[in-house]
This record gives sequence, C-alpha cells and structure tokens, in this order.
Amino acid sequence: MAEKLIVYSDQTRGRIAPEVYGHFIEHLGHFIYDGIWVGRDSKIPNIDGIREEAVAVLRSVSAPLIRWPGGFFADCYDWRDGVGPQENRPVRYLEHQDGDIEPNAFGTHEFMRLCELTGAEPNLCVNTATLTAQDAMDWVEYCNGEAESAITGLRRENGRKEPWKVNYWAIGNEAYWRHRPQDYVQRYLLWRKYMLRVDKDLRIIASLIEPTWRPEPFSPHEDCLQEVVCGIRGNMEMASLHLYSEGGSGGEFTVDEYWDLLAQVDQRNRLRIESLLGVIDAVVGDQRISLALDEWGIWHPEGWKTKSLEQPCTHRDAIFAARYFHLLQSYPRRIALATIAQSVNVLHALLRTDGADSYRTPTYHVFEMFKGHQGGEALECLHTRPRREIRSAATRMRKDALMDLVTVSASKSQQSGKMLITLTNADPEETFAYDVELVGRFTAISASARVLAAEPQDANTFTEPDRVQARNLAVDLSENRVRVRLPPCSVTALAVKGRGAKDLP
Ligand code: AHR
Repeated sequence: MAEKLIVYSDQTRGRIAPEVYGHFIEHLGHFIYDGIWVGRDSKIPNIDGIREEAVAVLRSVSAPLIRWPGGFFADCYDWRDGVGPQENRPVRYLEHQDGDIEPNAFGTHEFMRLCELTGAEPNLCVNTATLTAQDAMDWVEYCNGEAESAITGLRRENGRKEPWKVNYWAIGNEAYWRHRPQDYVQRYLLWRKYMLRVDKDLRIIASLIEPTWRPEPFSPHEDCLQEVVCGIRGNMEMASLHLYSEGGSGGEFTVDEYWDLLAQVDQRNRLRIESLLGVIDAVVGDQRISLALDEWGIWHPEGWKTKSLEQPCTHRDAIFAARYFHLLQSYPRRIALATIAQSVNVLHALLRTDGADSYRTPTYHVFEMFKGHQGGEALECLHTRPRREIRSAATRMRKDALMDLVTVSASKSQQSGKMLITLTNADPEETFAYDVELVGRFTAISASARVLAAEPQDANTFTEPDRVQARNLAVDLSENRVRVRLPPCSVTALAVKGRGAKDLP
C-alpha cells in the first residue's frame, strides 16, 4: 500500500529565508588558495583570479549568501592586510594553521567580487580576539561608507568607488575559545555600538558561548550561555550556532554508523536548536531573535587527520544534507541563515579541486535540487512515516529509538506560484511509493521530479565525476494528486506547477 503525504497549499509556516542555503568559506587548507582563488595569471580558467568552476557551482545552486573570512581565521585576520596592490600585501604567519602562511592575495575586494559574480550577499566576521572595536568600525566604513574620509578614500584608491553595502556582520567566531562570557559580552556590546554608528542598518550576529562538537543535545555550559544571552539581551538580533556531526569514518562506514550519522539530524541537532531557542526565549522572551547556523555539516575523522580538513564526500553526506535542510525548514520563523562548512575542498564540500581538475560532490546536487525552496512559503504537511528502530548514541539521547526513514518539506514560491516538495528516503533497501495530495486553492497543471539515488558509500571522483548525479524521475499527476516512488537511499525533488504559475525557475 502506498504511503500518504498531504500538502496544505494555503497553510504556511513562514517564509524560508533564502540565506538558509548559504556557504562558509575560510582560509584553511586548499579552500581559498588553489580552491577558489587561482590568481589572475593562472592557466586554470578564472574570472579575475577566481576559479570559473567555483563561480559556476555557486551560481548553479543560487548561493544566497557567503560567510567569510572565518572561522578561526577571522580571529587573527586584519582586513587591512588584504586590501591594496597585491605586491604590497604582507605575508603573515597563520596562528590557527600551525605556522602556515597567509599571502593575503584574497582579501575584501576579491571576496566582494566573488559575491558579485555569484549573486550572493556577503557576510563578514570581525576579529574580536586580536583587533579592536576601532578596526571593526573601520572595516564597516571601508565596505559601506559613502562620505569622503580617509577610509573610504582608501577604498576608492584601491579601485572601488561605490560602497558594497554589506548587511550581515558577525561579531567574533566561536567566542568560547577566546573569551570568558563576561569579556565577550563587554566586547560584543562595544563592537556593536561602534559598528552601528557607522551604519545603523547592519544585521549583527552574536557568537554565543556554545561549543560545537559536543555530543550533548543541551548546552554543556548552560551557565555561560545564560550569562552571555543575559548580558547582551536587548542588543541581539541573531545568535550564531555551530553544529557539526560525525558518524564513523567518512568513506568506509558500517551500517550502524550510517544510521547513527543520519539519526543525529533529528535527534541531537534538533534538540540543540530547540535548547538554544529555549534559553533565548526564556531569558529574552523575544521570538524575533533568530539563529544563524553559520557552520554546519559533517566532520568525518578523516577531516581531523590533516590540517587541510579534507575528507571523503559520499552519497550518505548528501542524504544528511537533505534531511538537515528539512530540519532547518521546520523553523522558518527562527532560522535566519545557515552556511555549510565549507563549500570547496574543506569538510562537507560541494566542490573538490586538484589543479585544473574538479568534480561536484553528491551534496552539491542536494543544494541544486533544493534551491527552489529559497524564499518560498513553508507549507504544512502531514504524512505517514515509515520508521525503523535504530540503536545509536543519537537515538539514545532522545530515548526514542524509532527513526523516520522518510523526511519531507514543501514550499510554495510567491514569485512563481510553483510548489516544491522534497523527500528523502534514508532506507538503503526499501522503495516507498507516496501518494501526494495537494489540498487548498492550488490547481496542479503539471508535475516533474528529479532524484538523486545511489549506494550510501558511492561518491564522485576526479576520474568519475558524474557517478552520483540527479536524474529525471517519472511521476503520475491526476487532478491534485501526484504519485511518486522514492528509490532506496534517495533524495527527490518534486516540482508542481499550479494554474497561473509563472515560468520562473
Ligand atoms: O570549519 C572549520 C573550523 O571549525 C572553523 O574555523 C571554526 O570556526 C570551527 O570550529
């Protein structure tokens, strides 16, 4: 018998912020140098020094926002090192990379060019560890200032007349590594005050004292977290949360490790989001404060073994990413942005490069298939849930061993009037047929679907770059009902055009 999914086309849960599909890029390993930045004189096809293929990937997933320069790198980065003629830029010792060096060839202008080329909004992170509030203020002025001044004059001298108008600014990164709660509170308030004096419209992201990798579903430092939230309440709009997951090795994993990793999305990660929102709501009581999950993804043990944090990127990671987006889209009013760590070569990458060669990972395809959710109205759904008992660290945490095999999310674009329904089937053996019913004032006139299906350990490689890729999937539309079969271990994107829908993507 077919499973059942009902999508309520008139009942919206809120708008899905496009920025939820954002990217995080850092000066780490082969991300910037040899990854995105190849230099203007490189034989590798590039636009103003930026690898063409990286631009193509970010454009094809409609990257809405890019976070830079870190990460740990932000804590020792002086933006002045990365502006001005290339030949004058200082080479610096990289504190967080054990003595590697930073040539500063990729700086503010190069980053802004990447954003222009990809259509993404920039999100800058200011240094609260080794620089001052004055430096942060100056950077805001350099990017956003219009009046004639020494700082804006420097920008003009460096080739940029008009301000870039950067909206998103994070104050510090993972503050718990660098500051005691009371010190961060003091810095945050000072930095924020002066940055806003330069541009009152900035959207500021606070870094809470909230460790990343801890397996606990609740904050292990609840007292520190409370202290920061208490200290900055009334001056807080967005709070950063970093959430990494791991589950056995990234390339060769056991069946238990397969399930454990996927179970973390709905167990540990959901609990962590809810517990942080719980603290914010209890202390501040303002539900307009949203979360910026500005580092998320899988950190496999292989990623720990080298300084460059490179790891295998299999189809399992793509299933994880799709389920993760379903999780984020279930909080459309509270999650303002999310940036995957990290888009090229590092950790949960979308693109891997080696010299002139490159390939797109299975996770890239999820970003591409889900891009229609960006800015859409999240719709209420009800569905039958095939479940399986999973005994893992993640399910023990919630004391619920039953895991949903299928997850779903639906949205309707106000712009195009089209509906996008995405479904994951995590079961590596079973196919599930779904009878999808669209209720409300929506008259379906056509439907099409694409599917990303493979074995959990399948991956793309330099020699086989298209082994895992999305293909068309037959669907059956009759009146407002669509029948779709979800193959084992798959992600499906079902697009439904309603009467009056425009021909927009
Ligand atoms: O993404 C890699 C590192 O993980 C970042 O530099 C840091 O912010 C986080 O802990």
